[in-house]
Amino acid sequence: MATHPAPPLARLLERTADAVAAVRAGRSLTAALDSGPAELRPGALALASDVMRQLGTAQALREALAPRAPPAPVDALLLSALALMVPRDDGSLPYGDHTLVDQAVQAARQLAPASTGFINAVLRRFVRERAALLEAVRHQGVAAFNHPLWWIERVRQDWPAQWRELLAANNAAPPMVLRANARRTTAAAYVKQLEANGRTAQVVGPHAVWLHAPCPVTQLPGFAEGEVSVQDLSAQRAAPLLLGAGVRSGARVLDACAAPGGKTAHLLELADLDVTALDVDAGRLQRVQQGLQRLHLRAQLHCADARLTASWWDGRAFDAVLLDAPCSASGIVRRHPDVRWLRRADDLAALARTQAELLDALWPTLVHGGVLLYVTCSIFRVEGQQQIDAFLQRHGAQGAQLDAAAPGHLLPLPDNDPDRFATTPVVGDGFFYALIRKP
Ligand SMILES: C[S@@+](CC[C@H](N)C(=O)[O-])C[C@H]1O[C@@H](n2cnc3c(N)ncnc32)[C@H](O)[C@@H]1O
Repeated sequence: MATHPAPPLARLLERTADAVAAVRAGRSLTAALDSGPAELRPGALALASDVMRQLGTAQALREALAPRAPPAPVDALLLSALALMVPRDDGSLPYGDHTLVDQAVQAARQLAPASTGFINAVLRRFVRERAALLEAVRHQGVAAFNHPLWWIERVRQDWPAQWRELLAANNAAPPMVLRANARRTTAAAYVKQLEANGRTAQVVGPHAVWLHAPCPVTQLPGFAEGEVSVQDLSAQRAAPLLLGAGVRSGARVLDACAAPGGKTAHLLELADLDVTALDVDAGRLQRVQQGLQRLHLRAQLHCADARLTASWWDGRAFDAVLLDAPCSASGIVRRHPDVRWLRRADDLAALARTQAELLDALWPTLVHGGVLLYVTCSIFRVEGQQQIDAFLQRHGAQGAQLDAAAPGHLLPLPDNDPDRFATTPVVGDGFFYALIRKP
């Protein structure tokens, strides 16, 4: 196989600056990088993710060094370079100062030639005054915690004992966790298969395998044949929770917000179910189809807004409903470090409204005696416990009952595993799970 030399840092910085500018304008990092040259994508994604984790500090530093913001592309390059010159917790730096300043100036030559002198001067001053500048911004909330102020405040209100830890955890590297396909293998057998391929891994849950050194999925043995999928440990709780709640072989199950299909596939790997998988996004629904094909599984897929039941439901009640609702994604910031900068404070009210509408619309589609599993990958209470408390207030009189089997909020912190689902210290993503019975 031909090996390609790594792209020069200046080109990666140029691409990173484009992506940072896109995020600041409201686009996701993935969308921004997907539209650029493929050979720069992995390197630029790694750099841009690193920049997202230090963006609050970099912004405060830039304001101290250059109070008048330069044009957006120049600002994005400057912020990227500054973010990469902030020492990590252990004091290390990803690049030497000289290399980074030199490469940032080269990137500026391509992006905005008139700005090279400015970039050079600001970065050199930063190198000279780094300790004093860092000390000056250390106590500013956004710079100190690298999250927007409203987010910091929300986490502090929701989790007064853990808020600092939770904010810090968002900047950790996410573990790569796999789900062994129970129709073809077991977690223990797959670990052996990985070891035979020179990779170290361990079993961390009923079907979960923690791969110690992340790698592209194409390098996983048996991936193309459907032996394994990538799925976080906390996300792997959905299917066992539903099946543990008494959903039997042959049951009609609705997966109302299914794409990209991780939980749909897990359900079908564990039981012979008649699954209807809905998603409002046609492009994302295609990914469900591709995933099921790779895993040799089948479901009925429909592109529809789950709230508009008249448009997709034939009136036959489901034995179980899985509602993995759209949310802020505040529980998976490790994996999507741009999320914190993309969300706005008032998004939360809009998301909570959509979640309540989905719950209310889907409740009548559930058979008496059935269960609804409500899931979000959020740590915000308004999308979790408060949402379910309000639902029970609206529907409790008609019999809706909370089942204690679901864990509620799962925080992405060590030792936060109330029902000992995981068998090792791998930290799962932040999730909320509530199981509601309809007598
Ligand atoms: C958290 S993701 C689901 C993840 C998925 N269950 C899995 O495990 O791979 C939420 C999904 O809800 C979809 N969605 C958002 N609003 C919807 C609606 N009103 N009706 C149906 N799907 C919706 C989004 O397109 C997105 O794919």
